[in-house]
Amino acid sequence: MFKIIEKEELAKEVTKFVIHAPDIAKKAKAGQFVVLVIDDKGERIPLTLADWDSSAGTITLIFQKVGFTTKKLGALNAGDSIVHILGPLGHPTPVEDLGEVYCIGGGVGIAEVYPVSRAFKAAGNRVIGIIGSRNKDLIILEDKMREICDELFITTDDGSYGTKGLVLDVLKELFGSIEKSTHTKYPGLVYAIGPVPMMKAVADFTRESHIKTLVSLNPIMVDATGMCGACRCSVGGKTVFGCVDGPDFDGHLVDFEELKTRLRLFREQEGRVLNQQ
Ligand SMILES: Cc1cc2nc3c(=O)[nH]c(=O)nc-3n(C[C@H](O)[C@H](O)[C@H](O)COP(=O)(O)OP(=O)(O)OC[C@H]3O[C@@H](n4cnc5c(N)ncnc54)[C@H](O)[C@@H]3O)c2cc1C
Ligand code: FES
Repeated sequence: MFKIIEKEELAKEVTKFVIHAPDIAKKAKAGQFVVLVIDDKGERIPLTLADWDSSAGTITLIFQKVGFTTKKLGALNAGDSIVHILGPLGHPTPVEDLGEVYCIGGGVGIAEVYPVSRAFKAAGNRVIGIIGSRNKDLIILEDKMREICDELFITTDDGSYGTKGLVLDVLKELFGSIEKSTHTKYPGLVYAIGPVPMMKAVADFTRESHIKTLVSLNPIMVDATGMCGACRCSVGGKTVFGCVDGPDFDGHLVDFEELKTRLRLFREQEGRVLNQQ
C-alpha cells in the first residue's frame, strides 16, 4: 500500500498528491512515469513522476480528472492509500548539455515538463520554458518553473494571463528573433509535452528549422510492460510501444494522426463507465 501524505488542488480538476513510495523515489529520473491501481478492482493508469524526494521517500503525481479512474483518484485524501504503484517506468529523458533547450508544456503537461526542465538546467543548459493553458486558473507550477528556467513565457488561449495565444506562437516569435540575432546560440533541443495537437504543431514547425525535437507521448496503456500492445504508436514508419520504447520520441517522426485515433478508441466505453459512477 502507498500512503498519500499530502493533497493539494492546484487548479480546477488538477490535483497534486505526494505519496510515500521510497523504492520509486530512490530510482526516479526525469521523463519517467508510474502505473497505479487505486484499489483491488481498479484499472491501471499511467502518470508521470512530476517530482520525487529520495530522502523523504516520496513521489509527486499531478493529474487532471478527466475520466472514471482519475476522478476516483481525485476523491482520495491525505491519509488514504493506493493499492499498487509500479515504477519508475519508461526510459528517462536523454539529458545532456546541448547549450540551449526549449521546454514546452501545455495543460497538465506543465507538471510533466517541470522535472525535465530541471534536469536540463542541472546538466548546464540555458533553459527557456514556455507553458500554456486555456486560461489563468489552469496555469500550474509557475513559481517552480521560474526557479529553474533562464526565461519563462506563459500563454493562455483567452489572454487572461501572459500572452494571448498558443505556446507555438511564442516559439515562432523566439525563433524569429534567434534567426536575426548574431550572438544567440541556436537551440540544441525543443522538448514538448501536452495535448497531441500541440505536440504535433510544435514538431511540424521545428521540422522546417531542423531543430531536434522530443515529444513525450501519452498513448492508452494497459500493462505498461511491453506485452499487451495497447500503447502501440508509429514513429518513422516503425511500430514502437510507448511504455517500453518511450515515452519520449523524435517528434519529427511521430504519426500523430494515428495517436489521436487510437486515443479515441474507447470513448464510448469510457463515457458509459463514467455515467455509471
Ligand atoms: C506515460 C503517460 C504519462 C501520463 N502522465 C499523466 C500525468 O502526469 N497527469 C495526467 O493528468 N495524465 C497523464 N497521463 C494521461 C492519463 O494516464 C489519463 O488521463 C488517464 O489514464 C485517464 O484515465 P481515466 O479513467 O480517468 O479516463 P478515461 O475514461 O480513460 O478517459 C477520459 C478521457 O481522457 C482521454 N484519455 C484517456 N487516456 C488518455 C491518455 N493516455 N492521454 C490523454 N488522454 C487520455 C480519453 O480519450 C477520454 O477523452 C499520462 C499518460 C501516459 C501514457
Ligand atoms: S501498455 Fe501494453 S505494451 Fe505498452
